[in-house]
Amino acid sequence: MDVVVVGSCNIDLVSYVPRLPAAGETIVGSKFSQGFGGKGANPAVMSARLGAKTALISMVGEDSFGKEYKEDLIKNKIDVSHVGTTSKAATGVAPIFVNDSGENSIVVVKGANDYLTKECVESAKYLIQNSKILLCNLEIDPKATLHALKMAKSFNIRSLFNMAPATTGLEDYFQYCDILVVNESEAEIITGMQVPGVQEAKTAAKSILQKGCQVVIVTLGENGAAVMSKADDEAVHIPTPKVQAMDTTGAGDAFCGSLAVFLSTKPELGLQESVYRANRIAGITVLSPGTQTSYPHWKDLPPELFGEERLLKL
Ligand code: RIB
Ligand code: NA
Repeated sequence: MDVVVVGSCNIDLVSYVPRLPAAGETIVGSKFSQGFGGKGANPAVMSARLGAKTALISMVGEDSFGKEYKEDLIKNKIDVSHVGTTSKAATGVAPIFVNDSGENSIVVVKGANDYLTKECVESAKYLIQNSKILLCNLEIDPKATLHALKMAKSFNIRSLFNMAPATTGLEDYFQYCDILVVNESEAEIITGMQVPGVQEAKTAAKSILQKGCQVVIVTLGENGAAVMSKADDEAVHIPTPKVQAMDTTGAGDAFCGSLAVFLSTKPELGLQESVYRANRIAGITVLSPGTQTSYPHWKDLPPELFGEERLLKL
């Protein structure tokens, strides 16, 4: 495997609204759509669509959503030998609102994802051991995530940990992950400092790095990302071309999946160039509605994104 993902599957229930509703308010939406999502499956699908050999370790419910989800993963050429089914809870769902500026607010009802346990991860040991990179996040039992990170470390497999959705009390996780990816609000939760812009993101990256991981990436949406490795003195800002966002749902997951693919299949690019290209792909996903529905196939992307020439000019 090039990329192995340990994480969630959710059915996304997306309502398009002029603005996000306030408490107690009823507003009229313009459109509804149902799609495949979840912070685990999303990067797995992105990775597979970029042509990387990809496996997902996940859990769905014994219901129609779960059945449809598994079939869809197979259609996306993902190894589902460790996508389990539980009768203890329903397949995860995520009611999502997307406003006219493409911003979203998401509720996740984890359901079956909570039954993706440490034992499930343990039973998929051979997959992790034989992968080039492990990708994980926090939409499952957090103990399972920590176990996966520890396992990757013990096998000397690189890990990319997207600390989403972020909570406090995750200090233990840092020492086991190589690459930590957080957005502005997750960086704020970890550091306790405000991250309104590029400068603050660079400061936050530096402070998070001291907690034990090898590389920190703070994603900044239309402002690109701040990146810092252990060997650097300062974080570097990686800009990204401006686009007109229509729906940003799942863009961060597309970034993580693409980054995992570049790092595992094109290591000669190096970290900064890989971050730049992953951001370009995330930027393409915000131009169209939905989560996985907006993830491109490698054939539809500009060939320069897979070429040898450096695209990042700092
Ligand atoms: O990151 C986007 C994802 O968050 C959505 O697909 C939704 O399922 C939630 O997990
Ligand atoms: Na999108």
